[in-house]
Amino acid sequence: MRKKLIIGNWKMNKTKSEILSFVKDFQNEIKNLNLNCDYGIAPSSIYLDFTKEAFKDNNKIIISAQDAHFEEKGAFTGSNSWSQIKDIGIKYSIIGHSERREMFGDNNTVVNKKTSKLLEEKIVPILCVGESLEDRESGKANDFVTKQLEMALIGIKENEIKDLVIAYEPIWAIGTGKSATSQDAEDMCAEIRNKIKCLYGEEIANKIIILYGGSVNEKNGKEYLSQNNIDGALVGGASLDAKLFVRLLKVVA
Ligand code: PGA
Repeated sequence: MRKKLIIGNWKMNKTKSEILSFVKDFQNEIKNLNLNCDYGIAPSSIYLDFTKEAFKDNNKIIISAQDAHFEEKGAFTGSNSWSQIKDIGIKYSIIGHSERREMFGDNNTVVNKKTSKLLEEKIVPILCVGESLEDRESGKANDFVTKQLEMALIGIKENEIKDLVIAYEPIWAIGTGKSATSQDAEDMCAEIRNKIKCLYGEEIANKIIILYGGSVNEKNGKEYLSQNNIDGALVGGASLDAKLFVRLLKVVA
């Protein structure tokens, strides 16, 4: 049985005082709840340490980076390396989010290097894949996503992959309020699991956590999470408000 996982991706949002007020509300909301899912938040890198400290009374929450450079150190202005992330005790990082792919040049080769390095360093990559509206409408979504996945996993061996988390996020559903139908999301997640099965065998495919992301909220969350191959969600907008985020955790847990 795969445990459900919900990660809130704050993207480039929140200041210190907003983080503190989120944490206060969040802790208050979950106080008497027995949540039966894993959950976490991915704040901006500048506040990773701060957010971790702010949540020090919560030993369950996962604090995840939004990206990690595959090099240990060097002349990469503006980047954060996997080793810096590891140094501050962060154990998860989103990799290959479509916004990084589209706006920061994270192509399949870069995504592969990052995924591979993180697995080697025992940081869990939350590897994002997803097609554009054009690919979906022209019937190429499955091919596009499975190819993206295959490229991200080049050179990664069976004994390294077990901790990987995959997030299927159709680009057209991100931040648009236009979510995929639960059936479309389930079909693609099943396709992804099948690809993992072809590459790494059934045992690994059955264990790997696959999230859906794209306008998930407390209203549609249960429907997605009740699908066989969807093990959780990567949530943008609906993770910014502590009360709404906890409401989502409650409906899926
Ligand atoms: P959204 O973002 O929930 O605001 O659509 C999801 C994501 O980009 O991970």
